[in-house]
Formats: sequence, structure tokens, C-alpha cells
Amino acid sequence: MATKLSNRCRLIKPSPTLSLSAKAKEMKDAGIDVISFSVGEPDFPTPDYIKNAAHKAIDANYTRYTNNAGILELRQAICDKLLRDNDLKYSPKEILVSPGAKASIVNALTAVCDVKDQVLMGAPYWVSYPYQVALANAEPIYIPTKEEDGYKIRAAELEIAIQENPCTKALILNSPGNPTGAVYTKEELAALAEICIKYDILVISDEIYERLVYDDVKHISIASISEEMKQRTIVINGVSKAYAMTGWRLGYAAGPANIIATAGKVQEHSTSCVNSITQYACVTALNEEDDSIEKMRQEFSVRRDFLYNELKKIPHISCFKPQGAFYIMPGIKWYLDNNNQNIQTSDDFCAKLLDKYSVALVPGSSFGMEGTVRFSYANSMENIKEGISRFASFLQELNPGR
Ligand SMILES: Cc1ncc(COP(=O)(O)O)c(C=O)c1O
Repeated sequence: MATKLSNRCRLIKPSPTLSLSAKAKEMKDAGIDVISFSVGEPDFPTPDYIKNAAHKAIDANYTRYTNNAGILELRQAICDKLLRDNDLKYSPKEILVSPGAKASIVNALTAVCDVKDQVLMGAPYWVSYPYQVALANAEPIYIPTKEEDGYKIRAAELEIAIQENPCTKALILNSPGNPTGAVYTKEELAALAEICIKYDILVISDEIYERLVYDDVKHISIASISEEMKQRTIVINGVSKAYAMTGWRLGYAAGPANIIATAGKVQEHSTSCVNSITQYACVTALNEEDDSIEKMRQEFSVRRDFLYNELKKIPHISCFKPQGAFYIMPGIKWYLDNNNQNIQTSDDFCAKLLDKYSVALVPGSSFGMEGTVRFSYANSMENIKEGISRFASFLQELNPGR
């Protein structure tokens, strides 16, 4: 007889973004010219100044276990960064370095959640949040957001959600956001902070896309709204997206010392410290940044403009202009309602698009937003041009008389 699996793990499905990119890779390996817009990682190499620091760390034999929370030089470099960029004053004991921001979020949720606790998040949400909450034995609760509101949670909606869910322990806030690219303004954050303080709600503020903001948009951390808010915020950040270091695996959490110490215990008995070479390379990444980081941001900005303008030209596609991250999430609802191939859901849509035009997108259903699809523009301009042209041809085929 098969062993019964735990309830919380039976609820967890594999990441749809990973399964789609696996299918796209299979097709590529079979010689098919697939254009994949499904993966959420920069397509640039890690900058040389960071790679050189890693070489030096290997040569210096920095290859042993480190302090579980991260080497002191790195935690200090993170404190310096938080002060420099976010106007937030932390000490190294308020920082926990983990193998990726993903691990930082899981450690933080495990540290604070009990069975029956509820954790709020805006929908659309990043695919992993609901499962991370479930792994921490808590219940995810979704606050629907709308394209016309810029896909942001309004303070009044947050208050209603808290009143309707009396076991609310925390809110996960993601700005700049995946999948929408929405970025909260200082005023919007201040209004949310007021509600969180009123109801004593902890905020897990995922700021992993902080450096990727466009035009004159500025990233603000909700922790910087007031000292009272800082006391109830865990800031999550890392090097994956800004420094093109996804495979190095380093993220961090900054927050009240008691929560950070408890999250540290979770880490100590599970993954333990982050790879020592990565940690040394990240001290350099944060302390000695060169212009390669800004150049990547500028390139993402050019791609965003191109993709957005192309999508706007297609009839019956609605499109929110992202202000950050490297995703764009057009609405395809009209084509789900009006097509000649019995395509009814975003899953059907993406499966057919991959099958017939070899273009991989992520269905909005994965983010709790049916009727949309997500493009990642962490892809070359050449691929973006070809991919959007195939996407437009597919829509034309779905409704030639539109
Ligand atoms: C919103 C969001 N948070 C966190 C992460 C995880 O980042 P890391 O590579 O540091 O684990 C991702 C990665 O896709 C993300 O999109």
C-alpha cells in the first residue's frame, strides 16, 4: 500500500512556469524553433566583477560552512545597501541570508505562522506564494485586484479582507510585482501601512525586483513608511534578478530580531548556510557595483516598451503597462470568448500556442488571473520580435473576422 502523503504537500502542484519551460525545452531539443517567454530570469551573464570575486574566494579556500545566518561581511553589506537604497537602518542580527528569496519567504512564514493562520495576498500573485503559505501550515487568502486599479490592493479592500478573515496573520506584498509589473507608490503604501498597523498585521514585503523599475518610477519599501511599520515588516530581497545571479542562490530577509532569529533556526535545521563562495561574491556584488547592473535595466526597459507597443496594436487585447520587473500580462479574454477552435481557458490558449506556433507563455490561471497570459521579456530583442509576430498570427487565426 502506498504511504499516505501529508495533507499540506498533497495540495502542492509543481510550478506551472517550470513545467511549461520543460515542455518548451523538450521541443527545442527535438529541433523545433521554440520561443520561450515563460522563464523568470535575466538572460544576461553574471557581471564579471562578481565572477572575479567568486574566483578569488575559491582560491582563498573560503569553502567551509559559514555562520548559519550568513558571513558578517555580507550581512553588513546588506545593512549598508538597505540604508543606502531604502533608507532603512538594520543591524546584522536583523538579517538572515538564505539560499534564494524563495527560501527567505518560506523561512519567514514558517517562523510566524501557526495552523489556522491566514495569509493575505493580492491576485494575480506570484505562483509560489500560495504553496509557501500552505507549507507553513497556514491558509492563503486572495484579494482580487483589477487592471484598471493597476493590479494593486487598495487600503479599503485590505481592511475588508482582514475583517472577513479574522485569523489574518500576515500580508504578502510584492512590489515591483510578478506577474503584473505593478509598483506601489509611497502614498499607496502609507495607506496599506495604516491598516496593517491598525489590525496588527505583519507584512512580508517581497522586493526582489526592486532594481528593475522604469521611466521615473521609484521603488519604495513599505518598511520605510514609519518605524511602527518597520517593526511589523520582513523585507525580502536578493541578488537573483538585479545582478543576473539566479543560479548562485542567495536571498535575504531583514526584520525584527526575534523573527529573524526564529527564521534562522528553521534554516539551521533544514538548508543551513548559503554556499560560501556565493556569499563572498555577493559582498562584492553589493559593495562594488559597476555599470553593468544599470545597463541590464536599460535593456529591459527598451524591451518592455517594444513589447507593450506591439501588444497595443493587436485588436481586443487589453494591456496594463508594467512599471517594473520583466513581465507583461495582456488580457486575452475577448479571444477566449470569440474563437473558432473551442479554446476556453488561458491553459488551452497557451497549450495551443505552444503546439502550433512554438511560443511558450504562462497562462494567467497560474497566477489566479484567468483571461490573461504572462510574457517574460527576459529574452533577446530578436526573439521578442519573432515571438510577438507569431502571437499576433495565432490571434488572427483564432478569429480571422475580428
Ligand atoms: C516575486 C518573486 N519572489 C521571489 C522569487 C525568487 O527569487 P530567488 O531566485 O531569489 O529565490 C521570484 C523568482 O521568480 C519571484 O518572481
